[in-house]
Amino acid sequence: MKHLIDRLYETSTLTAAEYRELIDNRTPELAEYLFEKARDVRIRHYGHDVYLRGLIEFTNHCKNDCYYCGIRRSNCQAERYRLTKEQILECCAVGYELGFRTFVLQGGEDGYYTDEKMVDIIRAIKAKYPDCAITLSIGEKSYDSYKAFFDAGADRYLLRHETANVEHYGKLHPKNLSLENRKQCLYNLKEIGYQVGCGFMVGSPYQTTDCLVDDLLFIQELKPHMVGIGPFIPHHATPFAGFSGGTLELTLFLLGIIRLMLPTVLLPATTALGTIHPRGRELGILAGANVVMPNLSPRSVRPKYMLYDNKICTGDEAAECRQCMQRRIESIGYRVVVSRGDHKSFQKKD
Ligand code: 5AD
Ligand code: FES
Repeated sequence: MKHLIDRLYETSTLTAAEYRELIDNRTPELAEYLFEKARDVRIRHYGHDVYLRGLIEFTNHCKNDCYYCGIRRSNCQAERYRLTKEQILECCAVGYELGFRTFVLQGGEDGYYTDEKMVDIIRAIKAKYPDCAITLSIGEKSYDSYKAFFDAGADRYLLRHETANVEHYGKLHPKNLSLENRKQCLYNLKEIGYQVGCGFMVGSPYQTTDCLVDDLLFIQELKPHMVGIGPFIPHHATPFAGFSGGTLELTLFLLGIIRLMLPTVLLPATTALGTIHPRGRELGILAGANVVMPNLSPRSVRPKYMLYDNKICTGDEAAECRQCMQRRIESIGYRVVVSRGDHKSFQKKD
């Protein structure tokens, strides 16, 4: 199997059959070999720098009903909230002081925030923090809405594709949602000029190796600037409450593969990874990740943005998470940098 990793390292591509072989025949020894190669590639492009993103979870209202997600419309146990523009700006102010230069506005698909409201929020953040990047993570919108947000100053957009296998997509989502539209959104975002992130959950219900191979092939085709992956973690008040979660081991292995496929990709060690293992995010960095996304949401709303059970950092202040992340990153010989942390292809040459 090492020969496949060597080839992936040299050419950044494998065939579907080879990805399947690699995933199905993985061993701890092979994983260690993969992670060494992944670190080699990431260090070549980004050194030991780890980029910070301040995550602002500004609404947990959602019109969708994804079977895996704790803030799905049908979860009537969820206590709903929305942040005002002033509250969002206050999160940015706290974040800026702590050295954040990217703010991620994430929320459910909430019709309350019309395009006009979003444009107003984006403009206000950009006016106050012109040296910061804005990442949006607010779901499927029309081409024109994406364009309006981009023109208002949004730089990046995260929209996980969730699974690139059509049948699997249908098992995770109600019928009104389609993989086709999801993919179209991602292509639209790229065309408009965003730095774009797709991604998927590892170990979601009904996922097979073939699904994962489809995910990798889709990533190879889209060539995103960012890829967000984390383990599926069951939420008690969803239809998937009874399923088991994804593993640390498979998530790390996939992080390593994705680093070799897209050598300059922005790859977060996600909160979900930190939730299933006390050192999950550090292990993610050591498998090839180069981004962490500490929470900047006001502490009062954090327990309400529960996509899955036992989410970490719901009781901590932003400053605590910032310090905690710094300690964690330094403990493995990497360093947190104060920077927008753009994708290499978007970094200004001077
Ligand atoms: N476990 C892990 N990740 C989840 N997400 C939603 N629900 C869960 C869950 N139960 C992820 C989805 C979504 C992102 C914001 O959070 O992939 O795109
Ligand atoms: Fe939030 Fe460690 S990152 S407490």
